[in-house]
Amino acid sequence: MPPPTRRLTFRRMVEDDLDAMARLLGDPVVMAHYPRPKTRDEALAWIEWCRRGYARDGFGLWVIEDHDGGFVGDCGLTWQRLDGVDELEVGYHVVADRQGEGLGSEAAAACVDFARSRGVERVIAIIRPDNRASRRVAEKVGLELDRTSVMHDLDVVVYARG
Ligand SMILES: CC(C)(COP(=O)(O)OP(=O)(O)OC[C@H]1O[C@@H](n2cnc3c(N)ncnc32)[C@H](O)[C@@H]1OP(=O)(O)O)[C@@H](O)C(=O)NCCC(=O)NCCS
Repeated sequence: MPPPTRRLTFRRMVEDDLDAMARLLGDPVVMAHYPRPKTRDEALAWIEWCRRGYARDGFGLWVIEDHDGGFVGDCGLTWQRLDGVDELEVGYHVVADRQGEGLGSEAAAACVDFARSRGVERVIAIIRPDNRASRRVAEKVGLELDRTSVMHDLDVVVYARG
């Protein structure tokens, strides 16, 4: 996983993170650009999906914490099939009361660097068009608007680097 950044540490998600992950992914503010917030069972499935990624790929979405151990959210790399191509996506979710501090961008930049350190140059972000904060994070970590597309029947914009 990426090394610690100035304000954040990455670690693997574990089942004990269920309370924090269910609060994060169940928050209508955090999930405003998703079809709906996730249930507790869906948050558990999310943790299991991340853990399958660690086992299979060596990466996934990791928990991000501040240096006091405070839960900030998740950020990491996952394979996504888009337009028939497997692409490495950087993804990020920050708890509502820590948004706007630059933490999402700090975490995403570390993940893009991590991908590059593993020899993967091309990283994308798949974003709902009206998700201005996410688009800005993508731009700030060096991704550029690539195209529009459709994923799970939803219009998306695709940012890419490499
Ligand atoms: C996207 C997200 C992770 C960004 O996290 P964050 O820690 O708040 O991001 P940052 O503080 O690094 O801010 C990133 C940039 O977005 C901008 N921004 C934040 N909210 C914005 C908004 N509503 N409209 C426009 N720009 C916005 C910030 O001003 C900043 O840009 P700047 O440095 O040029 O001023 C966070 O908003 C979030 O968790 N959103 C919900 C989950 C989500 O949608 N994830 C992405 C799915 S594709």
